[in-house]
Amino acid sequence: MVQFKYIHHSCFMLTTEKDAIIFDPYLDGNPTGVKAEDIKVSHVLVTHNHGDHLGSAYAIAKNNNATFISTAEVANAAAQAGVKAFPMHLGGVLPFPFGKVRVTPAFHGSGIAGGHACGFIVDFYGTTVYFAGDTCIFGDMSLLAKLEKIDYAVLPIGNTFTMGPEDARLAVQLLGVKKVIPVHYNTWPKIAQDPQAFKAAVEKDGVAKVFVVAPGESLTLD
Ligand code: NI
Ligand code: MN
Repeated sequence: MVQFKYIHHSCFMLTTEKDAIIFDPYLDGNPTGVKAEDIKVSHVLVTHNHGDHLGSAYAIAKNNNATFISTAEVANAAAQAGVKAFPMHLGGVLPFPFGKVRVTPAFHGSGIAGGHACGFIVDFYGTTVYFAGDTCIFGDMSLLAKLEKIDYAVLPIGNTFTMGPEDARLAVQLLGVKKVIPVHYNTWPKIAQDPQAFKAAVEKDGVAKVFVVAPGESLTLD
């Protein structure tokens, strides 16, 4: 049974009874009170080097001797800090013990010289999750849907730094996904959004269901 455990902002874990991986582990100010030393994972996936995504990734990776997966520039910086890093880049698709990782483009700063922000499509024990990272909407989201059978899309809806809810609604159509989880909103006033309004708008289109997961809550992925 795969679970989506939401911490806050863009930080979430995918878990089974035996394994867990974490994405963009920004823990500062998270309302669940979880700290880096509480987190047990085998892999840490980071979309870009902005502080609200890199977060506590080094500490979590070191504590667990976990593998840090990101684009080459971000991963190489982690390796220099003593982290067990696994560099990939846009277009890379590789098997991992839990399944598979595809690195997707994201239109956003990388937060590091020469880098590129990314998203991930992860097959985690048979459930495929597309985490867009920080990005605007882009037309090739429809191409991603041809490359992988995406079960859940985890999309930013905050606006200001990423796409907002109206663009994310169209992104759902480009992706052709049936299940959507909004993230990257309400962390700060600049990304204040009503996820229930997003849910109502997307579900009105009649294709996808939106799961609004509160910080600290978990959703069982089927
Ligand atoms: Ni960012
Ligand atoms: Mn961000």
